[in-house]
Amino acid sequence: MQYRRLGSSGLQLSALSFGAWVTFGGQIGRSEARNLIAAAYDNGINFFDNAEVYAKGEAEKVMGDVIADLRLPRDGYCVSSKVFFGAVDDPRPTQRGLSRKHVFEACHAALQRLRVDHLDLYFCHRPDPDTPIEETVWAMDALIRQGKVLYWGTSEWSAAQIKEASRIARAHHLHAPSMEQPQYNLLHRTRVELEYAPLYSELGLGTTIWSPLASGLLTGKYNEGVAAESRLGQKDNAWLQRMVIGDEGSRRIDRVRRFTAVAAELGEKPSQLAIAWCLRNPHVSTVMLGASRTSQLLENLGALELTDRYDEAVWTRLEVATAE
Ligand SMILES: NC(=O)c1ccc[n+]([C@@H]2O[C@H](COP(=O)([O-])OP(=O)(O)OC[C@H]3O[C@@H](n4cnc5c(N)ncnc54)[C@H](OP(=O)(O)O)[C@@H]3O)[C@@H](O)[C@H]2O)c1
Repeated sequence: MQYRRLGSSGLQLSALSFGAWVTFGGQIGRSEARNLIAAAYDNGINFFDNAEVYAKGEAEKVMGDVIADLRLPRDGYCVSSKVFFGAVDDPRPTQRGLSRKHVFEACHAALQRLRVDHLDLYFCHRPDPDTPIEETVWAMDALIRQGKVLYWGTSEWSAAQIKEASRIARAHHLHAPSMEQPQYNLLHRTRVELEYAPLYSELGLGTTIWSPLASGLLTGKYNEGVAAESRLGQKDNAWLQRMVIGDEGSRRIDRVRRFTAVAAELGEKPSQLAIAWCLRNPHVSTVMLGASRTSQLLENLGALELTDRYDEAVWTRLEVATAE
């Protein structure tokens, strides 16, 4: 495993990390979740990502339970939560968003579910148009001073919103956001590569990037249709299928087919190539993997060996193949 600093902070995260979205508390049972965390930790992964909204708190419960069961040393791993969407069906106004009230209460609930005394990373899962950024910045700083959170950050905030949060923090000598959690993969590049470009050096921003395989699309598993047992084939995931594959006009599947053709020519697994491409971006602090079975996770870890195998021309070929 390689380790990278989270932006300009002193926290070293494994270059590949592991998240619980859709799988924990939903698609997979506790014993597969336990196998996945064990395999991840044994292979040097030291960051496990979660959120209040994942399976309405169940994903955090399962993760906390298996980490306790595996007796992982608390100083050997980092765990996150994310606040915004709430952890109940039809949340009331105080059960969602980024008000001081919900940020505090969601943090306390996540600590209990994950069975830890502090969250290593705590994210604002989306911007909240109904809460002044200043209120959220003060709330995050208070949690850090109380020892309940170590690093706070954002997920899918605009560059302008991140800058504003940092400006407020610096003006009041508060803890500024250390990281952003954006989507980043061969099919979705603009925000990380262009919009955030000035923030890496100006703010020392780190990134924990999500969906490196675009929910599995970049493995090529959907090139010939959607199998029932795959993520996009799960009942209740029609919305996700629309989002990930898009309509015919979006030509996303064509872009993936071109990508998997290049991978086949190179004799590489598309999954490993797609993840290695993310790892090559120096502004990516950690690539967050998802998996519904341990064999997928073990395959994806092989991406670490590909980053130096090819020269720039080959990586550019992949970018051309997947271009819109
Ligand atoms: N901040 C946010 O808004 C946000 C949003 C989304 C995700 N996240 C975080 O990012 C993490 C990773 O995102 P993600 O789960 O979407 O990552 P991903 O790598 O794009 O997709 C993972 C899924 O792809 C399939 N897959 C993975 N490896 C495979 C392989 N080698 N062969 C075949 N299929 C494979 C599996 O689904 P199936 O086996 O079911 O097909 C797996 O669950 C999440 O767990 C979550 O922690 C954050």
